[in-house]
Amino acid sequence: MGGIIVFGAGGRAGRAVTAEARARGHHVTGVVRDPAKHPGIEADGVHVLRGDVMDQRGIALAARGHIAAVHAVSPLTGPEQGFASLDPEFFVKAADALLHGLAEAQVSRLVVIGLFANLKNGDGGLVMDDPAAFPPEIRPFARAHHAGLERLQATETPVDWLMVTPPALLESAAPRTGRYRVGGESVAGPGPLRLSYADLAVALLDEIDTPRHHRTRISVFA
Ligand SMILES: NC(=O)c1ccc[n+]([C@@H]2O[C@H](COP(=O)([O-])OP(=O)(O)OC[C@H]3O[C@@H](n4cnc5c(N)ncnc54)[C@H](OP(=O)(O)O)[C@@H]3O)[C@@H](O)[C@H]2O)c1
Repeated sequence: MGGIIVFGAGGRAGRAVTAEARARGHHVTGVVRDPAKHPGIEADGVHVLRGDVMDQRGIALAARGHIAAVHAVSPLTGPEQGFASLDPEFFVKAADALLHGLAEAQVSRLVVIGLFANLKNGDGGLVMDDPAAFPPEIRPFARAHHAGLERLQATETPVDWLMVTPPALLESAAPRTGRYRVGGESVAGPGPLRLSYADLAVALLDEIDTPRHHRTRISVFA
């Protein structure tokens, strides 16, 4: 099967996507900023490359020959890191570098992991704009994510991109079930929804193996 290039391959989502892709027989190139920080990624036959999701030229060179790319990069792993160093344009710059770099490399599919905070709530507003539903101190990160989605939507590109947005509870330790439900732009149903990283990876790989959604954003949940 054709190769998939995963940006952020050392992170929680990146590792889950890599494992799912390898289990399905794909060749995987895992892009990380510092390979020494992420030992063990090669163990399952992943080709590890040093790279940065902001580097359009590097993306164009690294991605050539792959059938799809996954954007599993986050500038922050958790709110405990604080937001002082967060570049509000991070996800915009990443979208630009990926769309242009992948177009140059003739990689036609890009699947991006989203953030639940910019889904719509019951009254049509965004979750992140409701202080009762979303901690205001994390809003800068959510705004940065949302700007990245808006950039994807606004860019004329040959790249068939898709943003796949998990629910609020995205769980590292929860097992792979192979099942998930697909929603739209709104938070589906009352009560907290959850999903494992492993099943998020299943949803991403399904959209690479058999693309069903194009140039849009979907939500997925257990
Ligand atoms: N409930 C939700 O909606 C929810 C929950 C969690 C995550 N997410 C989203 O899911 C995505 C993945 O998150 P995650 O939990 O897997 O995060 P993570 O575990 O923190 O992994 C993110 C990875 O991105 C890498 N990275 C950071 N800056 C980079 C750059 N400039 N170029 C290349 N790689 C870079 C980091 O690697 P190094 O720093 O080691 O280089 C890290 O391994 C993000 O978009 C995140 O916002 C959504």
